[in-house]
Amino acid sequence: MDELIAKFGVDFIIKNLAFPFYPHDALTRGTFISGGKEAGKTNLAKILTYLLKKKGCVIKVVDGSRAWLRNTPIKNIVKINSLGSIEQSPITESVVFDVSSLLPDNQAYFIGTLLERDFNFITSLVCQKCQHSLLLNQQNYTWYCPKCQTEYNYAWYCYWLEEAQLILRSGSLRARASQCALRMVTVGRNFKEAIGLLTQFPALIDTNTIKACGLAYFGRAWEQNDLRKLERLVSWTRSRCEDVFKTLGVGQFVFQKVGEDATRKIIRVPEFINGFNPISETQLLPQKKPSTSIFSKILGIE
Ligand SMILES: Nc1ncnc2c1ncn2[C@@H]1O[C@H](COP(=O)(O)OP(=O)(O)O)[C@@H](O)[C@H]1O
Ligand SMILES: [Mg+2]
Ligand SMILES: [Zn+2]
Repeated sequence: MDELIAKFGVDFIIKNLAFPFYPHDALTRGTFISGGKEAGKTNLAKILTYLLKKKGCVIKVVDGSRAWLRNTPIKNIVKINSLGSIEQSPITESVVFDVSSLLPDNQAYFIGTLLERDFNFITSLVCQKCQHSLLLNQQNYTWYCPKCQTEYNYAWYCYWLEEAQLILRSGSLRARASQCALRMVTVGRNFKEAIGLLTQFPALIDTNTIKACGLAYFGRAWEQNDLRKLERLVSWTRSRCEDVFKTLGVGQFVFQKVGEDATRKIIRVPEFINGFNPISETQLLPQKKPSTSIFSKILGIE
């Protein structure tokens, strides 16, 4: 274990069950989650959803894996059978869209339709008193009427996209979805819209798009092209990337917050169990003292 610390250096701080989550960064800059199959990406996104919902955010999930249909922090599930079926879903409530019966290109098309519909809704909000278009106060994130000054405390809208590589790769049907997602990454905060991208294949997603996300959770990876991408994202040497990313287990992620590269750390995410709710916010707060014994435990080396 000492050997590992010597190898990885002092920025490699591991905290027992510390779960660094910064809602402000998640909302204003977006979240990125990568990791191979069964790395625990969806579980992590469910926890983040649970926490954001507690803060009053409206969360929409586009899921082709059916993993959100059970044990989910969102009760409202809408099955999408055709591209037109979005109309039945309420704009202002949290929803899981089950797109498992659509082909990947159509899933991408659906994402484009959803993001565009909601964006148009949000950008056409008007004052209930004088019908003037609302503007967003960037200081406190409240909508206000520039004419009569009435304030409206509408929620943040947050979108989790499973298999984000489907839309962030080129392709004609995907292009619209990709444009909508990129718009959200870059200017979403100006409309109180936030995005969360999940992928098994970080290598397929543009580096700048990932870097634009405020919070990043990188789970286990072993493919050479994914490791190469992660190397650029976390600025570690190739051998450290191999050591770390090939060793991470289920629910373990390298966490990185934008602008705080030095505090990059491995975290262990608790399991989300709906109805039982084992997660308390205090439990999730980073603990002050790093525990070295946990260090070895997390990496599975005693
Ligand atoms: N933090 C965790 N602790 C314990 N088990 C977990 C954790 N995260 C995920 N799992 C379990 O591992 C399996 C895969 O998790 P999931 O989140 O669906 O992975 P992914 O989305 O990366 O494929 C699930 O059965 C889940 O219950
Ligand atoms: Mg998943
Ligand atoms: Zn007004």
